[in-house]
Amino acid sequence: MKIAIGCDHGGYELKEILKPYLSQKGYELVDFGTNSEASVDYPDIAASVCSSIQKGECERGILICGTGIGMSICANKYKGIRAALCGDCYSARMTRQHNDSNILCLGGRVTGPELAKMIAEIWLSEEFIGMHHSARLDKIKSLEGC
Ligand code: RB5
Repeated sequence: MKIAIGCDHGGYELKEILKPYLSQKGYELVDFGTNSEASVDYPDIAASVCSSIQKGECERGILICGTGIGMSICANKYKGIRAALCGDCYSARMTRQHNDSNILCLGGRVTGPELAKMIAEIWLSEEFIGMHHSARLDKIKSLEGC
């Protein structure tokens, strides 16, 4: 599975930890930066990752900033993007099963590296279960542009 990954300076350290870990698990990562701890604007990185998913170049994305909040606010503005900020494994599992989230947001200054690895691995391996949840996704779609 091809995964777009991006971060701002607050998520840089965690991005660099997750990249080799997820590559080793067999995920193909496309890195949209940032590539240092120099300050950047998280909306710019969110734009690149969301656009790669909208174009179908990557199937899913991971966005990391200090809290994960700024990235999730930005990502959820994009049509077809369902971004979930997760700080625990249960939410990571549920958001795939019920929300079919296509972007995982993480807080690099909030969630420790070992927990973040577990969250990412669970989120990447879980599938959407459909059923009545599909009708709810249709309702989310109908909210786009409100
Ligand atoms: C950057 O200082 C910080 O505001 C950003 O990483 C993020 O936490 C915003 O939501």
